Amino acid sequence: MSRPGAVTVRAPAKVNLELRVGTPREDGYHELATVFQAISLFDDVTVTPLEDAEPGTVEVGLSGENTDGVPADESNLAVRAVRLLTEQTGIDEAVRIDVRKHIPVAAGMAGGSADAAAALLACDVLWQIGLGRDGLHDMAAELGSDVPFPLLGGTAVGTGRGEQLTPALVRGEYLWVVAAHSRSLSTPAVFAEIDRLRKGKVLAVPTVSQDLMQALGAGNPAALGAHLANDLQPAACSLLPDLLRVLEAGDTCDALGSVVSGSGPTVAFLARDGEHALDIAASVRGVDTVAAVHQVSGPAHGVRVVSVQPQS
Ligand code: C5P
Repeated sequence: MSRPGAVTVRAPAKVNLELRVGTPREDGYHELATVFQAISLFDDVTVTPLEDAEPGTVEVGLSGENTDGVPADESNLAVRAVRLLTEQTGIDEAVRIDVRKHIPVAAGMAGGSADAAAALLACDVLWQIGLGRDGLHDMAAELGSDVPFPLLGGTAVGTGRGEQLTPALVRGEYLWVVAAHSRSLSTPAVFAEIDRLRKGKVLAVPTVSQDLMQALGAGNPAALGAHLANDLQPAACSLLPDLLRVLEAGDTCDALGSVVSGSGPTVAFLARDGEHALDIAASVRGVDTVAAVHQVSGPAHGVRVVSVQPQS
């Protein structure tokens, strides 16, 4: 069978419907319990073999509406994904990675993690390794706490540092309005801020709420909206106080719920229906610190091969 040429993989952004944060661990990470949902906002990652380049060459190309702040060097998580796969398999064929970005950057939506997950699957297909999503999980976890989830997609409970996943039973489709902020937040800085805010407090072992899981199982958006929660939200708002104005813009339209996603600063609002989503989007667009508003749905699929070019 002939080897494939360029492989394109589509990877989803995520929102955290609930994020509970425990105490810091010895390794510096925090024990988490979270519910991830993949949403219909995707990056496309194309990995193309470079026939005439030195083995081990990895070139990067960035395009799309959101590339500010995305590194095009070795620190790009997609490049690190290819390097890790090379290290583990011994295959060091030269490639070019083209990332077409739609997911906001450094925004709490795991866009860099999605690109890394996509690069892993694209190389797995390109190099005919055959690991598949399950076989790529451990490498994904080594790259970052949020990298395994986009491999899976859908809705899942994450524990450990977020990398241990259990798919969740979900009925129905949820309509989200996602507001990206004009500024970004550093994940380590937000975790450091929650430690500062909670200093001296005795913390329970983090668990996800049964009410939220039941709302998902019943396909009840109103109940889900009432149980959206993120322990990192006060820390994100402390570092970026104008996030409160973004959250209020959703309240004025009676969003079913609103939550800062992950370490922020993106805010996700849950809508009743398409018309309600339009209202929320219009209201949120009126906040001057909001950089972009996306109307999306969840749960969305995990990484998926969308095209394989024949070898030229
Ligand atoms: O795993 P990842 O590299 O994405 O994590 C980035 C940073 O976020 C970590 O270095 C740590 O500061 C913080 N983090 C944490 N606890 C987690 C996940 C991330 O403290 N469970």
